[in-house]
Amino acid sequence: MRRPLVAGNWKMHGTRASVAELIKGLRQLALPSGVEVAVFPPCLYINQVVAGLEGKSIAVGAQNCAVEPMQGALTGEIAPSQLADAACSLVLVGHSERRQILGERDDILSRKFAAAQSCGLVPVLCVGETLEQRQAGKTLEVVAGQLGSVIEELGVGAFARAVVAYEPVWAIGTGLTATPQQAQDVHAAIRAQLAAENAEVARGVRILYGGSVKAANAAELFGMPDIDGGLIGGASLNADEFGAICRAAG
Ligand code: G3H
Repeated sequence: MRRPLVAGNWKMHGTRASVAELIKGLRQLALPSGVEVAVFPPCLYINQVVAGLEGKSIAVGAQNCAVEPMQGALTGEIAPSQLADAACSLVLVGHSERRQILGERDDILSRKFAAAQSCGLVPVLCVGETLEQRQAGKTLEVVAGQLGSVIEELGVGAFARAVVAYEPVWAIGTGLTATPQQAQDVHAAIRAQLAAENAEVARGVRILYGGSVKAANAAELFGMPDIDGGLIGGASLNADEFGAICRAAG
């Protein structure tokens, strides 16, 4: 059985004061033991969050990493080895905001994925279609292309130590959520694509859903057979709401 993962992506939100408040709220949560929980603060606050959550079973991840694993001359970037040194265990790769706003391409993302794994971090590869692509009937083609480019570069075996997050771009921060069946259809296609290369890897990989998940819709989404948890944006900034979503995965 795959252990569900609920991951809170704080995006570019927070101040030292608000992060301290959020840590306080997270520390008070009763979290289900069968669910892995992680938060992804802005890099600036990772040390504060790691220290603040000490002793609590919540992993800390980063929202991005450099293409090179080790520290060096790469202004403005943070190396996966530095994230590991800061006690991060996961890193998002290819969130749609970075693909769309910062133009991150599949070839760059494969390098980040590999760099992260080489430092012991678990990459969370984000894939998903825009509204135009869905309306044009291209959802599965787009997602298969994003996933396929990493498989092609690194081999399917790389997904034995990785997580995939399906996030339809039209559902992110919009209040529009994919229906459980819409999400399940894409998750099943992702798993089938991996299974075509390696059935064991496909059975073990966790595929998260992201896009306007909240406490009110989480249980229904997480009840689908190929949805193994969620990547939560806005709702993860409220500890009580985030806790309720974690419990819905248990
Ligand atoms: O990384 C999280 C996703 O972009 C979902 O964000 O829950 O605010 O829609 P959201």
